[in-house]
Amino acid sequence: MLEDTSFAIHPGKDQASKAVVYRDIGNLIAEDFSTIYKFTCESGNVAIQFYTSSIVRITMNPQTDPILNQSKSIIVKPETVKVEASSKGEFIILATSQLQLKIRKAPFRVDIFDKLGKELVSETERGMAYRENGEVVAFKKMYDYDHFYGFGEKSGHLDKRDEKFEMWNSDVYAPHNPETNALYESIPYFMTLRNGRAHGVFFDNTFRSKFDMASSEEYYTFSAEGGQLDYYVMAGPEPKSVLEQYTYLTGRIPLPSKWSLGYHQSRYSYESETEVRELAQYFIDKDIPVDVIHLDIHYMNGYRVFTFDKERFPNPEKLISDLREMGIRVVPIVDPGVKKDAEYAIYQEGVNEDLFCKYIEGETYFGEVWPGVSAFPDFTEEKVRNWWGEKHAFYTNIGVEGIWNDMNEPAVFNESKTMDLEVMHRNDGKPTTHRELHNVYGLLMGKATYEGMKQQLDGKRPFLLTRAGYAGVQRYASVWTGDNRSFWEHLQMSLPMVMNLGLSGVAFTGPDVGGFAHDTNAELLTRWTQVGAFTPFFRNHSAIGFRYQEPWQFGEKYEAIMKRYIQMRYEWMPQLYSLFYEASQKGLPVMRPLLMEYPQDEKTYNLNDQFMLGDNVIFAPILQPAITDRAVYLPKGNWVEFSTGEVFEGEKTYLIHAELEDLPIFVKQGTALMQGEWVSNTQKTPRNVNMNIYAGIAGEKYQFTYYDDDGETFAHEEGNYLKLDIEVISTNAKVEVNVVQKQGNFIPEYKEITINGIGLHDGQVLLINGQQRNTIPVVN
Ligand code: GLC
Repeated sequence: MLEDTSFAIHPGKDQASKAVVYRDIGNLIAEDFSTIYKFTCESGNVAIQFYTSSIVRITMNPQTDPILNQSKSIIVKPETVKVEASSKGEFIILATSQLQLKIRKAPFRVDIFDKLGKELVSETERGMAYRENGEVVAFKKMYDYDHFYGFGEKSGHLDKRDEKFEMWNSDVYAPHNPETNALYESIPYFMTLRNGRAHGVFFDNTFRSKFDMASSEEYYTFSAEGGQLDYYVMAGPEPKSVLEQYTYLTGRIPLPSKWSLGYHQSRYSYESETEVRELAQYFIDKDIPVDVIHLDIHYMNGYRVFTFDKERFPNPEKLISDLREMGIRVVPIVDPGVKKDAEYAIYQEGVNEDLFCKYIEGETYFGEVWPGVSAFPDFTEEKVRNWWGEKHAFYTNIGVEGIWNDMNEPAVFNESKTMDLEVMHRNDGKPTTHRELHNVYGLLMGKATYEGMKQQLDGKRPFLLTRAGYAGVQRYASVWTGDNRSFWEHLQMSLPMVMNLGLSGVAFTGPDVGGFAHDTNAELLTRWTQVGAFTPFFRNHSAIGFRYQEPWQFGEKYEAIMKRYIQMRYEWMPQLYSLFYEASQKGLPVMRPLLMEYPQDEKTYNLNDQFMLGDNVIFAPILQPAITDRAVYLPKGNWVEFSTGEVFEGEKTYLIHAELEDLPIFVKQGTALMQGEWVSNTQKTPRNVNMNIYAGIAGEKYQFTYYDDDGETFAHEEGNYLKLDIEVISTNAKVEVNVVQKQGNFIPEYKEITINGIGLHDGQVLLINGQQRNTIPVVN
């Protein structure tokens, strides 16, 4: 809070001091290869474990034996991996089919290579080390052609080369600018792209940690204030395989309900039942599809969680069921702070059952948030998580299927912005301080909420939106990027932000469309809605005291354009849903930077203002005011502009014209796009589905999976889904579409899929499984 005074450059703060002495791990003294590969060094103990043949974990503890079972993120145990261990002079070699570790004994250094012998993560004069103050650090070699991505939720550009980051979940209302690097989420993970090949590093340490890819030309570092050096190296070699490996370790998103992929409308706050009903009716009257209306803090009685203000919201159950009839769900906000109020049942239970965070001396920690002085549940304890989860019956019993978790860094209105660092967490029997567990508070609140709702929803998929999180948050929640502002710069920044979150395993994300704080304007909101229609999470949200920004607030001209794009969101649902299915299976992001598909193409390495949905569609939105022309880079292949049908040759940059109503979209030739149709607010599941084949260039083969199911239950886990593996083969004479495999027993409302050949040239025929026809049956 004193950051805008001279305190910001206080000598005791973050400045690199010349007096800092890192104690190097030193020489190897003893080794033990009985189960895990263990090494005792002069100043630290190391364990090396292979999780798969492509994933190795290195743990260095300067004081004790490495602690191997405390992760809040990792959901798998090491597989049995065939490792060949050998000793050659001053080196020990550990090799799997995919990785080779070359370990030098004096001083102890670990260099990691892939199976082709290409260097992934290696050490030089400096290796693993610690400081007397408890800090642990790893120095790793950096090349001038290295590019870095991921790091979770960060401002700034796509490529994080020459940047420094801090991981400390922080409530930052303002500013979000390129040097605001600790935001709400901490995902201490990154991917390195080196000469077109990728590998990943996950530093699983929950203390305040730092990544420095800027201070030296020779090496980068990652460090943490305490704990041990505990990191995983993932071999890649493609960006996609790194994501598969990272999400194998930390989990993948559960398949979201279709309704949660629709349009969300929010405001801090729609303050009464009357206002919410009017809002819903506006959408219906204007025929603008909407799936969710969010209830911000005003719905509560004095901001007490698990209550309604009965003056403003006299009959929430009726409100929820009436809106449900209109095809709209209600998602209420739930913050962690429980108001200190001796007459409030949740607070009473928390005190009586001993569920709140406390100091070591036994006093409850109190901090000020929206309800005033509040206590904070200790989500690090299973008993507390269960209690909190069960409390959600208050909402699920009246028809709520989604919850919005906010302020869960946890945010507190004080100088440090959070809880006192010496507050103790019970941590399922291994008590430790908030200093160590701060970054996982939001993750564990998410776990409690998601699991509680899942139990209560009787087979329906819960939806959870969270502001704070740590590596693995994707297992429970989708993430929005917090309190942005209605600035064009924030629209611009949201693209690399969402893409890097996607590269960090969090596929279901998006910013507040239109901007949260500051007054939005017609043009900005329109352009932002065009982008939002194709970001994984699509919610318009604005703050108290600023202009209302529902799609109709700026007149008919703008409303018509926004309505069109919101409808397009629904038309694209079959494509989006198939991509979300892929994310749930493989951990791949839905919205991707071009480098993910074209890692050999340097032009994509820091391309911030374009993005892809899946592997075959590029979006190039206008991100500046009063601009109707922009440069668009198209990588290898031929690309068809979605609305005009114009064909562009790849590996070139074009100046593309886009009036306010236009969003340039390019579909790769030789591929396919699944499209549904928009019917009405209550009919969001398409009655007809089209497979549009963009006739390709000779010799190309494209494979993709179309996925569908009921969109809201877990019945797909019992085989109630439809999955078609399709291949498209183009030659000059014909375009062949083959259903290679059909799986599942879900029967959709549409009985067949219509196939359209787009851009077929004269004489070129479209063949479906060898026949000239234009449908695929989806019912046997
Ligand atoms: C925080 C959230 C914001 C919410 C507000 C009131 O600022 O980030 O989205 O509207 O609190 O609950």
